Amino acid sequence: MSSERSAIILAAGLGTRMKSTRPKVLHELLGRSLLGHVLRSVKAAGPERQIVVVGAAADQVRAHLAEHAPEAATVFQDKQLGTGHAVRVAMEANPDLTGTVLVAAGDTPLLRAETLAELLAVHEKNRNAATVLTAVVEDPHGLGRIVRDGDGSVLRIVEHRDADPEELAIDEVNSAIYAFDAEVLRAQLARLDTANDQGEEYLTDVLELAREAGHAIGAVVVDDPTEVLGCNDRAQLAALRRILQGRINTELMKSGVTMEDPETTWIDATAKVAPDVLIHPGVQLKGASAVDTGAEIGPDTTLTDTIVGAGAVVVRSHADQATVGEGAHVGPFAHLRPASKLAEDAKVGAFVETKNVEIGPGAKANHLAYLGDATVGAKANIGCGVITANYDGVNKHRTEIGEAAFIGCDSVLVAPVSVGDGAYVAAGSTIVKDVEPGDLGVARARQASLPGWVAMKRPGTVSDKAAKRAKGVSGG
Ligand code: UD1
Ligand code: CA
Repeated sequence: MSSERSAIILAAGLGTRMKSTRPKVLHELLGRSLLGHVLRSVKAAGPERQIVVVGAAADQVRAHLAEHAPEAATVFQDKQLGTGHAVRVAMEANPDLTGTVLVAAGDTPLLRAETLAELLAVHEKNRNAATVLTAVVEDPHGLGRIVRDGDGSVLRIVEHRDADPEELAIDEVNSAIYAFDAEVLRAQLARLDTANDQGEEYLTDVLELAREAGHAIGAVVVDDPTEVLGCNDRAQLAALRRILQGRINTELMKSGVTMEDPETTWIDATAKVAPDVLIHPGVQLKGASAVDTGAEIGPDTTLTDTIVGAGAVVVRSHADQATVGEGAHVGPFAHLRPASKLAEDAKVGAFVETKNVEIGPGAKANHLAYLGDATVGAKANIGCGVITANYDGVNKHRTEIGEAAFIGCDSVLVAPVSVGDGAYVAAGSTIVKDVEPGDLGVARARQASLPGWVAMKRPGTVSDKAAKRAKGVSGG
C-alpha cells in the first residue's frame, strides 16, 4: 500500500439555492472563500496532490484558485452527474494516483484539520478501503444515512430520498468527507450505476460495493457535528459565519485577548490579534489585519488589512491598508485610506481622512482635515480644516510638511508644495509656494473694518441694537 496521500475536492455544483451569479464555493466566510477554508484544512493533511473538481462557473473557480491556492489542480466535470461521477472524472484524469485519497465537498468550511487527521489515521491504521466521516445530528433531513449492522459495522449509506422509514429514523449522517484507498476507489467507481431516485452516480455507493468486494470499510464519528455542516443558502452561510465567529473569538480570548462583546466582534480567520488587546463592541478586523499587544480597538471600528502597533488606540474609525504605529491614536471618526502610515504616537482625530501619507512620530491632525499624497514630519501640528490639495484634475502631487511645522486652521496646501521644518502657516492661508524652514507663510487678504457700517446699513436690527448696547449708546 502506497503511503501517498491526495485530496479531491468536489466543487462543480453552482449551488442554485444561493441565488447568486457567483458559484457557491466562492462565497466568503470571515476572510476566506468556502473552498479556501476546505483547502486549508485539507492542506494540513499534507496531500501530495490537491484536485478540485470544477464545473459550474469553472472559470471563476479556476481564477480564484490561481490566486489563493496555486498548488491545487483542477479537473473539469462538464455535467454534474453525481458525486460518484465527479470523483470518477478526477480519478480518470489522474490515473497514476495511489495511496490514500481524501474526498471532501467544497462547501463544508468548518471542517477542522485535526478531524481530517483523525479520519486519515483511523483509515490507514485499520487498513480500510473506505472510511467515512459521520455525524450524529438532531435533524438528519435531506442527508445520507449511515446504515450499520447489529454489531455496529458500516454496511452502506442510503440517501434520504432513497431511504425506507426505518432508515429515515437513523440520526447518523454522511458528511460527504471520506478517505479511500485509490485502487479500490478506482475499481468501484467503474461499477457505479444510476439506479436511484436522482438517476445520479452516487459516491456513497462505493462503500457498499467495496464491502461486498471483501474490503474493510469504516466510519469516524465527528465530535462536533457543526464541523460537517454544509452551506446551501444564504441563511446557512450566516449560520456558519456565526459558528466560525464563536470559534475564532473563543480561541482569541483563551490566548489573552479581551472582548467586551464577542457577539458583535467579527475577526477574520486571517487576522491576528495579540494577547492583552482590548476589543470594544462592534469591531470588524478583516483580511491581513494585525493588532499588537496593549492596543485598544473600537467601539464600532472596521479595519481591513491594517496593522496596529502596540498600545495604539483606534476609536470608532474605518481603515483600509493602513499602518498605525505604536502608541498612536486614531479617531473617533477617522478614515484611513490605503497607504496611510502613522508613526508612533501620531494622532489622527475626528473627521480626518488620510490617503497615501506618512505621518511622523508624535505629529497631530486632530480634527477635520484631508491629508493625501503627503509627508508630515515628526511633531508637526496640522490644524483644524487643513487640506492638502493633491489633485489638479489630471495628476496627483505631493505635499511635504517638515518636522515640527505648524499648519494653521483652514489652510489649503496646493501641491506640489513644501513647508519646511519648524515653519508656520497662518490660519486661512492658501499656500502655493514653498515656505522655508522657520518662516511664516501667510496667504490671505488683509482684514479691513468699515466703522459704523451696521448703524448705517442695518439700522434697527438686533445687531444694531446689540452694537449700541456694547458702545453704551442710548436709544438701542
Ligand atoms: C451528499 C451525499 C450525502 C451527504 C451530503 C452531505 C451523495 C450521493 N450524497 O449529498 O450522503 O449526506 O452530501 O452534505 O454523495 N458535486 C459535484 N459534481 C456533481 C455532484 C456534486 O462536484 O456531479 C459537488 C457539489 O458541488 C457539492 C458536493 O459535490 O459540493 C455535494 O453534492 P450534492 O449534490 O450537494 O450532494 P448532496 O445531495 O448534498
Ligand atoms: Ca445537494
